[in-house]
Amino acid sequence: MTTWFVTGSSRGIGRELVERVLARGDRVAATLRAPKRLDDLAERHGDRLWRRRLDVTDTAEVERALAEAVAELGRLDVVVSNAGHGVFGAAEDLSDQQVEDAIATNLTASIQLARRAVPVLRAQGGGTLVQLSSMGGHLTFPGFAIYHATKWGVEGYFEALAREVEPFGIRTVLVEPGMVRTSFYDAATRVPASEPYRGGVADQEPLPVERMPGSQSGVAHAVIEAALSDDPPLRLLLNSDAHELVTGAVRERLAAFEARREAAFAADAEQPRAY
Ligand SMILES: NC(=O)c1ccc[n+]([C@@H]2O[C@H](COP(=O)([O-])OP(=O)(O)OC[C@H]3O[C@@H](n4cnc5c(N)ncnc54)[C@H](OP(=O)(O)O)[C@@H]3O)[C@@H](O)[C@H]2O)c1
Repeated sequence: MTTWFVTGSSRGIGRELVERVLARGDRVAATLRAPKRLDDLAERHGDRLWRRRLDVTDTAEVERALAEAVAELGRLDVVVSNAGHGVFGAAEDLSDQQVEDAIATNLTASIQLARRAVPVLRAQGGGTLVQLSSMGGHLTFPGFAIYHATKWGVEGYFEALAREVEPFGIRTVLVEPGMVRTSFYDAATRVPASEPYRGGVADQEPLPVERMPGSQSGVAHAVIEAALSDDPPLRLLLNSDAHELVTGAVRERLAAFEARREAAFAADAEQPRAY
């Protein structure tokens, strides 16, 4: 039986994942800000569901939650860092607090959870770290700058970490969905555009949720398959929009770098100060 640890289990992809691993017969340490929201699952699945209140931005609590889950369940095979929040609006219009909160929830909390999960997994001889990223960790849309900053941050951190911890039998999976029909867009903070940005590229209505291609069940299913496979990919790019847009963006970036090859090499040479 596989034992999972999941953050942000109240709704969306996190809850779908919890429901599905319970349905498989696995055990799960489901963490969330309002544990009562899993009362229905607790009734159905008894002690295979362990619940704990956790706001992922409280690092001391993250550490305690991991320790309690290990003490209670014996081991953790898959640690899923799923909790996340969207903040949309022109970059200039966000308050300092909105910037800090977005980074705290999506980036710092993911880093701090991983820093505490790695010693647990290493001590038991291995395990899998699953980090929710996004297609927005490879490309950008105006109006989403701070969200992209957090997901590009997650991409860099976990790519480097993956190589550090691989010798300990720890596998790392970055999950990169496209637009998925969850509560994410309703729950997101939308910052009204100030006058200079009104009607501009950062002031566009997002696609209606019902027209988003990704399903939360499809994403949760793919995460489970990857986490349980013998050789999971470092990057699990999911959904049709993500595949089309990310491959296009990476190709464009590569072409732009290649076009600048000579200029890049020219900067190796010492240059006289002629100005
Ligand atoms: N939906 C998409 O289109 C999409 C695309 C790419 C990537 N993702 C990523 O996938 C992950 C899950 O998103 P989702 O679509 O399932 O979103 P969602 O439906 O809005 O669910 C977000 C979950 O994160 C939790 N959460 C937020 N802040 C938290 C905090 N400080 N502490 C603990 N839990 C917190 C929420 O809990 P509460 O109920 O307590 O607020 C909720 O359980 C996120 O990392 C998101 O960035 C989503």
